[in-house]
Amino acid sequence: MRKKIVAGNWKMNKTLDEGLKLTSEIVNMVPDEVNNDALVIIAPPFVHLTAVRNLLKDQDRVHLAAQNCHSEESGAYTGEISASMLASAGAGYVIIGHSERREYFHETNEELAKKVNIALANKLTPVFCCGESLEIREEGNYVEYVSNQLKESLFHLPDEDLSRVIIAYEPIWAIGTGKTASSEQAQEMHAALRKYIASAYSDELADNLSVLYGGSCKPSNARKLFACPDVDGGLIGGASLSSRDFVDIIKSF
Ligand code: PGA
Repeated sequence: MRKKIVAGNWKMNKTLDEGLKLTSEIVNMVPDEVNNDALVIIAPPFVHLTAVRNLLKDQDRVHLAAQNCHSEESGAYTGEISASMLASAGAGYVIIGHSERREYFHETNEELAKKVNIALANKLTPVFCCGESLEIREEGNYVEYVSNQLKESLFHLPDEDLSRVIIAYEPIWAIGTGKTASSEQAQEMHAALRKYIASAYSDELADNLSVLYGGSCKPSNARKLFACPDVDGGLIGGASLSSRDFVDIIKSF
């Protein structure tokens, strides 16, 4: 059985005090209010990871992710952070290939394949993001485009490694725009990706992978999205910055 997951991507938001306050609120609200077994993950900026980890260490409902890692193990890469540093700081997960990284930092499918490898080698669970631009959506070949992102960054992995990956489908035209994909659009892509993975690996592996939806997911639309048979939860940007909204989304399964 695949896991239901809600992951909050804070992006470049929250000072340390604000981030700790948000974390404490989530840690207090989740056990009281959430009546399901969803895996809850928060991804603060790198510089807050250790302090947030300290707030999370006496509980087991909320887990810690980083928003990125470098593709090399160590070396002369000023300003960069390695997967082993993240693991040593207490992160269990790392977001890889977010569309903002692909767009502003020119991350390619090939480089992301290396990041996935190094994350797995350091026992981090990659939350691998994929998704098409509005232009590609309108041209109509969006399923092929996103399938190719998976193929080029993930399909070199042996079965047991791919089975550790969480996939997040995030149509770029829906991120931070307030324009959510409809549940039909999300279901169509999620089912297509699962079928593609099944054809390259196996039905069993594809059935057990969690595929999250991301892009303007909020309390008012999460229930409908999460009710789709192939949508296993969400990667949440803007709405993860409010403990109330984030917890309401977790309650939407
Ligand atoms: P959004 O961002 O929820 O603010 O649209 C989602 C994401 O980028 O992960």
